[in-house]
Amino acid sequence: MAISPRILKQLGHPSGITGRLVLRLLNRVNRGMNDVALKALDLGENDHVLEVGFGGGALIARVLEHDKTPRVTGAEISELAINLARKRYRNYARANFALTDGKTLPFESATFTRVACVNVIYFWPDVPEMLTEILRILADKGKLVLCYSEQSPDNVTSFFHDDVEAQLRTAGFATTHTTEHFDKDNDRHFCTVATKAAP
Ligand SMILES: C[S@@+](CC[C@H](N)C(=O)[O-])C[C@H]1O[C@@H](n2cnc3c(N)ncnc32)[C@H](O)[C@@H]1O
Repeated sequence: MAISPRILKQLGHPSGITGRLVLRLLNRVNRGMNDVALKALDLGENDHVLEVGFGGGALIARVLEHDKTPRVTGAEISELAINLARKRYRNYARANFALTDGKTLPFESATFTRVACVNVIYFWPDVPEMLTEILRILADKGKLVLCYSEQSPDNVTSFFHDDVEAQLRTAGFATTHTTEHFDKDNDRHFCTVATKAAP
């Protein structure tokens, strides 16, 4: 189904009243992908999770409700997403949020044990650059969980897992592994898990 340019823009950077509706909708239609991401994160109680491009925050909520209760940080280019998340999670000392420029991540090296990116790779201006940045902020033996549809929302770019895994290895990730999934909202999609080498 073709998505209008106005909605495509909102998917990549939600803002205003339409953005609020889009963020709510994303939480619903991407539930299956977020389930896959949560499982792949394989959380432990000492984990510090970063989600890049958390949108409506459905995965953040799942991480905060997790019985291992890890810390979670959300990074977003959308001020609306940041403001809504700060309000929604104001009572959680384990959650914090950072507005980013879309190219760099404003965190010290080796800060996080887990990074999740669900439905956001399509919008990165430079995928190899962002993968290098994620590797930098991951701790040794840390894990990146990258979930994406085979087709970008504008249907222009294909994301085949072999290509994504090759890009991850080129960026310096030690191991990569992909599982394939299917649901009615996102058709065929992938979850690629990449690890940073032990020292
Ligand atoms: C399609 S939504 C996906 C949201 C959520 N992860 C989900 O699956 O429902 C993409 C989100 O990524 C954010 N985004 C786009 N480019 C980004 C970037 N370079 N860095 C951080 N966030 C970005 C957008 O603002 C938007 O909220």
